[in-house]
Amino acid sequence: MTGILPNLSFKNAAPLDKVRLGFIGVGMRGRNHVEQALFRSDVEINAICDIDPNSITSALDLINKAGRKKPALYTSGEEDFLNMVKRDDLDGIVIATPWEWHVPMAVAVMKDGKYAAVEVSATVTLQESWDLIDAHEQTGSHCMILENVCYRRDVMAILNMIRQQKFGEMLYAHCGYQHDLREVKFNNGKQPYGGGVEFGAKGYSEAKWRTQHSIDRNGDIYPTHGLGPVGHWFDINRGNCFTTLTSTATKSRGLHKHIVDQGGADHPNAKVKFKLGDIVTTVIQCHNGENIVLIHDTNSPRPYSLGFRAQGTEGIWMNDGDTIYLQNESEKKHQWEKADPYLEKYDHPVWKNHAAAAENAGHGGIDYFVLRGFIEAIKNKVAPPIDVYDTAVWSAISPLSELSIARGGSPVEIPDFTRGKWKTNKPIFGLNGDF
Ligand SMILES: NC(=O)c1ccc[n+]([C@@H]2O[C@H](COP(=O)([O-])OP(=O)(O)OC[C@H]3O[C@@H](n4cnc5c(N)ncnc54)[C@H](O)[C@@H]3O)[C@@H](O)[C@H]2O)c1
Repeated sequence: MTGILPNLSFKNAAPLDKVRLGFIGVGMRGRNHVEQALFRSDVEINAICDIDPNSITSALDLINKAGRKKPALYTSGEEDFLNMVKRDDLDGIVIATPWEWHVPMAVAVMKDGKYAAVEVSATVTLQESWDLIDAHEQTGSHCMILENVCYRRDVMAILNMIRQQKFGEMLYAHCGYQHDLREVKFNNGKQPYGGGVEFGAKGYSEAKWRTQHSIDRNGDIYPTHGLGPVGHWFDINRGNCFTTLTSTATKSRGLHKHIVDQGGADHPNAKVKFKLGDIVTTVIQCHNGENIVLIHDTNSPRPYSLGFRAQGTEGIWMNDGDTIYLQNESEKKHQWEKADPYLEKYDHPVWKNHAAAAENAGHGGIDYFVLRGFIEAIKNKVAPPIDVYDTAVWSAISPLSELSIARGGSPVEIPDFTRGKWKTNKPIFGLNGDF
């Protein structure tokens, strides 16, 4: 018995032994997923699609080295994925393309009756979040955002502790994406990280497309690494929901400075104007009274941290410094303790059961778990542990934060993508040791 809500249309079908996957976008991230899929004997890769011949060659190398059969290739332009989704030897399709392609691809996959897995962040506009919901509700097909941070061992242990009321009643969370991406947004067109200040057509990998979002948009353009785990901590869409947000942005300095420092003031890119504030702070109000502070900080020198903090009426955990204080358990009053013993004690059953299998996976094992969640949902013919409603609302924070900033920081309502079902929906993520 899994902890996942059954999809009624599949309820009586027997579980699958093998899952047949296709991949759209086999760039840097898509190939991580291909590698994870190749470790599994219960997955066949039957088709891959990409517009870049180098991405295809690198993915084929991985498949060939693993001794697997050559998949069908879809390489004939930006819309060739539409042909791939029609294949009848695919159960699910993993989408790891630039953000603006996620929704047209996921909707096409769902309309063809297959499971869609979509990389973060899933949507760029508010309408796109509704498009995912509509496609799901019209077809019964599923869409899972591949939010790997939901599976981080520490945030899952904290989820476990929250569910056991170790922090009392939850009040507040702090989270975000605090990652110096200057050498991701700019490179020399030959390698993924740095070596030059090119982007767009002259860039490599994410510099080709991600940097343009920093030129065109001012908001939290990558909210889900922080919001995914907090969404589960606070039962968002399941007894609770986001209601309003306000966002503010600092001035934009880091990307221009990086170009001038690394490429010189005369480099043509030194004339580019970036709209994205270096640090964007969003405050989200939840229906049940909690606040979430969400930070987007990708243009400044800083060591990586998602800055998680969980505060309840009886205790607090902070990922920076790895500290905890529990009023009823900590030995000394008003003093931090190291969190490790608690994280071990409350290790989530999903991790306890599968830690060894996750050893080879990227980002400390979480890439194993997130793909496994998708694959197990397909095998068991049930809704994925992170569903289309999570996908839609976590991603919608981007356009809504842009709107709030454009309106001088005024509050913006966050739509209820569940259309009222959050009041009765029950949590589905991490309920037991399955997936
Ligand atoms: N969860 C994580 O930890 C994590 C890490 C890195 C990237 N990502 C996400 O993964 C996604 C992909 O990022 P990436 O780093 O692999 O970027 P990338 O630029 O390296 O790869 C994107 C690939 O998509 C292909 N593509 C573009 N348009 C296409 C189309 N119309 N049809 C088929 N293929 C197309 C490109 O040719 C490229 O090979 C993004 O959403 C990114 O935010 C997530």
